Amino acid sequence: QRASVLLHPAFRTGTIDRRLFGSFVEHLGRAVYTGIYEPGHETADEHGFRRDVADLTRELGVTVVRYPGGNFVSNYVWEDAVGPVEDRKPFIDLAWRTVEPNTIGTDEFLQWAEREGVEPMMAVNLGTRGVAAAAALVEYCNGEAGSRWADLRIANGREKPYGVTLWCLGNEMDGPWQIGHKDAHEYGKLAAEAGKAMKLVDPSIELVVCGSSSMQMATFGEWEQTVLSYTYDLVDHISMHAYYEEVGGDRASFLGSGTAMDRFIDRVVASADAVGARRRSDKRITISFDEWNVWYLETRFPGEQNLPLQRDAPRIIEDVYSGLDAVVVGDLMLTLLNHADRVPVAALAQLVNVIAPIMTEPDGPAWKQPTFHPFATTARLARGDALDVRVQAPTITTARYGDVPAVTAAATWDGAETDGQVAVFLVNRTAEPVEVELRHPGLALSLGGGLQVTADHEPAVRGPEHAAKVEAEHVTTLDAAPVTASAVGTTTLTLAPESWT
Ligand code: AHR
Repeated sequence: QRASVLLHPAFRTGTIDRRLFGSFVEHLGRAVYTGIYEPGHETADEHGFRRDVADLTRELGVTVVRYPGGNFVSNYVWEDAVGPVEDRKPFIDLAWRTVEPNTIGTDEFLQWAEREGVEPMMAVNLGTRGVAAAAALVEYCNGEAGSRWADLRIANGREKPYGVTLWCLGNEMDGPWQIGHKDAHEYGKLAAEAGKAMKLVDPSIELVVCGSSSMQMATFGEWEQTVLSYTYDLVDHISMHAYYEEVGGDRASFLGSGTAMDRFIDRVVASADAVGARRRSDKRITISFDEWNVWYLETRFPGEQNLPLQRDAPRIIEDVYSGLDAVVVGDLMLTLLNHADRVPVAALAQLVNVIAPIMTEPDGPAWKQPTFHPFATTARLARGDALDVRVQAPTITTARYGDVPAVTAAATWDGAETDGQVAVFLVNRTAEPVEVELRHPGLALSLGGGLQVTADHEPAVRGPEHAAKVEAEHVTTLDAAPVTASAVGTTTLTLAPESWT
């Protein structure tokens, strides 16, 4: 099979916002307790946070971390988790039916984020709470001394405001599983009032209004239009969430997940722009794709309602990933790069233990899942502007998504027109090798390094040994891969079957 990819540094779609390489830490399962935080662990710092996890987070290249949920936020009382830890009371988190000890709260998280050099993205509870609690939290985080909530923060030991820029107006409020779920009109009105109050406290913040929980929601499209009809002039971004998985051995559809994500983005952009057009507005709402990943939701997750009531950081949705999953994650990231003009913020859900690229054992090691590799390499190499890449490739017919391209590509350009660094990301979704003619007219490329990840056929198995085996057999540095740089203008690459490069 053959494909051709054409790129030129003069043809750019948008600047890559570094916030595209975000992730997510929710009070869910072992994301916080025995995830980022485990006092007594041999690598724990003076604050009780695991150094090994923080180091892997840096290596992953994560820029933003969303917190504290997710579904969790919709029944969260943030005031109960600030101040002296010994005075905090546990509560039953209804989203995940887990007793939350409240040991880690806003200050502990924000200070961890600051120490680790990641930008926090906070969410407010618009399920069981409303305008006052949301505005108070913004004041607690960002206010200067001399008002009630800012002074409480100072009394709790933090003088300087945290300066949190990104704020989610609730989470997945269209989902019937959400605590305090609302219809689009109820939510739109509440989001507009909460957002208004939050921006009155701190006009510099950016607001993310909830879009649909997935494209499969019955209210998809209508929800975006209604919610934006209340909030268009106020908010900056609308959220998108999407999880993909292999169902019933349908490998072809699973490998086509990037195309599903691509169509989903186009539809949300169209919905938002339709609202803008009706208002004759020049403002463009952008997208915060603040939950995306491979998640075996349909095939492995029993459903929130079927979870037993648990305590002590139970193991919930600790999906184990394969090389195949890593190829799909790479394809999804490439899709986000291709929408750099409209998607400035994204978050791989999640960071550690819960559907995550980083896993830990309590009192034990931390390790990388196979999905770690394409994320880390993309976050490292995709810089500057996204290029308008033209791909010519055969198509594959899939059961779920119809015809999808057999090869996908994205590229970024960092530098001036004649001198800079180009990063190219390619996926071969077919079971055969594909020879790609990479055409870059007028541009002499000297090849740097890279990475190739190939899919496997074995079931994924939990544990550092298995992850290391997948890494040894399916993750190859590009120097060792078959790449030929030819004359100025063309480079030929052979993409391994079912691979991300
Ligand atoms: O990331 C896991 C869960 O998925 C989040 O809590 C929720 O927002 C989504 O349904």
